[in-house]
Amino acid sequence: METVCSPLLKQYRNILTELNNLNEKLVIVSLSDDAKKQMDEQVKVLTDAAKTIEGAIEKAKQLISEPAAMSSANACDWSLPLEESDPELYAIIKKEKERQMKCLEMIASENFCSQAVRDCLGSCMTNKYSEGYPGARYYGGNQFIDENELLCQKRALEAFHLDPEKWGVNVQPLSGSPANIAVYLALLKPHDRLMGLDLSHGGHLTHGYMTKAKRVSSSSVFWESMPYRLDEKSGLIDYQKLAENAALFLPKLIVAGFSAYSRTVDFKAIRKVCDSVGAIMMTDMAHVGGLVAAQEYADPFECSDIVTTTTHKTLRGPRAGLIFYRKGVKCVDKDGKEVMYDYESKINWAVFPGLQGGPHQNAIAAVSTALKEANSDMFKNYAKQVRKNCQVLADGLISKGYDIVSGGTDNHLVLLDLRKTGIDGARVDFVLEQCNITLNKNSVPGDLKPFVPGGVRIGTAALTSRGLKEKDFEKIVDFIDEGVKIAKEINKLPEASTTVKKFKEVCLNSNNKRIADLKEKVEAFALSFPMP
Ligand SMILES: Cc1ncc(COP(=O)(O)O)c(C=O)c1O
Repeated sequence: METVCSPLLKQYRNILTELNNLNEKLVIVSLSDDAKKQMDEQVKVLTDAAKTIEGAIEKAKQLISEPAAMSSANACDWSLPLEESDPELYAIIKKEKERQMKCLEMIASENFCSQAVRDCLGSCMTNKYSEGYPGARYYGGNQFIDENELLCQKRALEAFHLDPEKWGVNVQPLSGSPANIAVYLALLKPHDRLMGLDLSHGGHLTHGYMTKAKRVSSSSVFWESMPYRLDEKSGLIDYQKLAENAALFLPKLIVAGFSAYSRTVDFKAIRKVCDSVGAIMMTDMAHVGGLVAAQEYADPFECSDIVTTTTHKTLRGPRAGLIFYRKGVKCVDKDGKEVMYDYESKINWAVFPGLQGGPHQNAIAAVSTALKEANSDMFKNYAKQVRKNCQVLADGLISKGYDIVSGGTDNHLVLLDLRKTGIDGARVDFVLEQCNITLNKNSVPGDLKPFVPGGVRIGTAALTSRGLKEKDFEKIVDFIDEGVKIAKEINKLPEASTTVKKFKEVCLNSNNKRIADLKEKVEAFALSFPMP
């Protein structure tokens, strides 16, 4: 059977690849009617051939493995492709795919994962319940699931160059936020204290965010939090102030890590503060995980007790989270006895059953293959290119007279401070979105209005996955500059300048020619790059 099916499968895959290429060309090229007709015919011939082969393979599979009942005429057809089984949803996904291809994706927390990662997400691994951990599951039938999870753990340690005697990893967190909350649940008692970088200075919600009016994140509802901040002049983390406040607040845990900080974190400085107050140091490297794996960013593992990450940002995997914890000998006490780390059992309990139920084994498989990719020379080159592109982006914006928070970048993101230019981040974000450039409005240090922040955050990880290089980012600097100018021009209209809502209405209703022209240019430019 193998010998009959293998060539068929190969042929089928070739046809699918060919179809994909044709589809992508169809989106990119504007064809004459004749050419379009010919193309459509070719696509139809290939689609029919693919379906015939698919049908033959399905029949062959049934003959080998399925008893008579399943191969009977009324067998329910759950194996239809989405296009046939749910055309409504298929059309939505197709539109999203086209949007991704036609846009310049510069949201710093996004990326485009590989086909292999997407294959895992859509695999049979999604079917299995596997509450528990390898070798200790609640349900049966988990022998291959165990292999899957153990492989992921092994690859996670390898990708970050960790000694398995000294570090362990939990690969079950469903995403970055649950990973962080699981750490607090594991290592803190309710209402213990933690410190993290303030959200408006580049931190994340789960680092203890609260406002005067509300404890916004569960990290500030169940635990008491105090932020540390940037020095507003330099745009760098104010480690001195952190040390002073930690000495007063006496946190049990300090979070290093950020969502919007373009510089290298001084992990040693934060470790020193932790040691001075006896706090656990947790680094949330969600944004720079991929750069850390490629050794293109400072290594947080040297100084931290715990490291968490998302897997879908610079790491280019599926949406998931990881928790790394120290294990083995912690220190030797005054009587010469070894004291061991006790994080492993606490973290594992916190993730399951403390916080989550059954892990998403399809996502764990996808993380596995992303980690294999992250451990390759190709990925190292990718991460290098992400940083080079970001450097060009920062330099280009500075050369056009813009302010960049901290004056530059060491990683994959730039924080553009627009306040001097007389326009805010919300308006620029909106105009650029109309022109097919997606980035996000972001507070900059010293901002007074959180809903109309003074800056935008711009990232290079996603577009580098599409193969863009330095010269391409020079072009993007021009696009962004043009977008800012358009936003300023529109904002001069009295009806647009009152509120952001009014500004948006004016943009949408004015048929602005400069927006249309920029959109056309951006779209043509974006479509000239492939999608992984
Ligand atoms: C530093 C940091 N930690 C955690 C998260 C949360 O990740 P998720 O959205 O996957 O929950 C983010 C998301 O942007 C982040 O930037």
